Amino acid sequence: SWTTGSVIEEQVAAIREQVGDKRAICGLSGGVDSAVAAALVQKAIGTQLTCVYVDHGLMRQGETEQVEKDFVAATGVQLKVVDAEERFLTALKGVSDPEEKRKIIGREFIRVFEQAQAEIIADEGPEVAFLVQGTLYPDVVESGGGTGTANIKSHHNVGGLPEDLEFKLIEPLRKLFKDEVRMVGQELGLPDEIVQRQPFPGPGLGIRIVGEVTKERLDLLREADAIAREELTAAGLDRDIWQCPVVLLADVRSVGVQGDGRTYGHPIVLRPVSSEDAMTADWSRLPYDVLAKISTRITNEVADVNRVVLDVTSKPPGTIEWE
Ligand code: XMP
Repeated sequence: SWTTGSVIEEQVAAIREQVGDKRAICGLSGGVDSAVAAALVQKAIGTQLTCVYVDHGLMRQGETEQVEKDFVAATGVQLKVVDAEERFLTALKGVSDPEEKRKIIGREFIRVFEQAQAEIIADEGPEVAFLVQGTLYPDVVESGGGTGTANIKSHHNVGGLPEDLEFKLIEPLRKLFKDEVRMVGQELGLPDEIVQRQPFPGPGLGIRIVGEVTKERLDLLREADAIAREELTAAGLDRDIWQCPVVLLADVRSVGVQGDGRTYGHPIVLRPVSSEDAMTADWSRLPYDVLAKISTRITNEVADVNRVVLDVTSKPPGTIEWE
């Protein structure tokens, strides 16, 4: 019968056999899947694994530290962190179009990750032959069940590497559903904040600022988002909500009155939704007192925000994210 213990044992043995004395690389996103995949592979091959975390500067408050400190403490994994905030902000300068933002973030991410890979190979040699991916069973079904290799074209000229690097894939979560992945993660000793994390988009807060993405706007949104998350957690609502994007309407201003005078600030949108699979969603009927607390705190504590609005649109017609 299925137990998390037997899944872990089975996978650890299979990964050891597959990797032998070669080495593997795993990209960490801060999400559940890559974290559990990395923890499993780390359990199997220890320091033959190197994890890479690209800090694009678009994460929420505390998330990068969660990977750098808590994840490393829980697993003992060997981690390479690339601080690429400036590079991403420069690439995003002047860009407001959502699709354009996604394209830029995706492109920069691949470039930074490949550069990190190339550096690891330069350090550790050609025995780096495997790439770990947190592919789940639903992803396998959706993509037709294929598996195999990842072809990495290196854009970077890092001392004597072949133009094309071919990695074999390790996908230890291929037979698991999300709730099973969470159970495996828990059994492996990962912190709850990682294992129970709600979905968060790869492009991060970059697609939660309607308008140009700047450092100031990111910092403001991080503050508002942290308050919303704190209050939802304090109210015990995390399990009822699928996710709650917090969005900054950076190009909108409205008149307000705060303290002694008139303000002309930005609105923050709360977008709490309930869903089974993110394909459809309904707006969450949050208790008014929780909404009131979040609204009061955000307008009191976050400079330049004088209004909090609630998105009461289901999906369809709205998407969960605003961009
Ligand atoms: P939408 O906005 O399309 O979102 O209703 C559906 C789910 O997908 C997440 N999402 C993304 N996840 N990269 C991701 O990894 C992305 O570019 C991306 N866009 C949306 C979103 O948070 C929701 O859970």
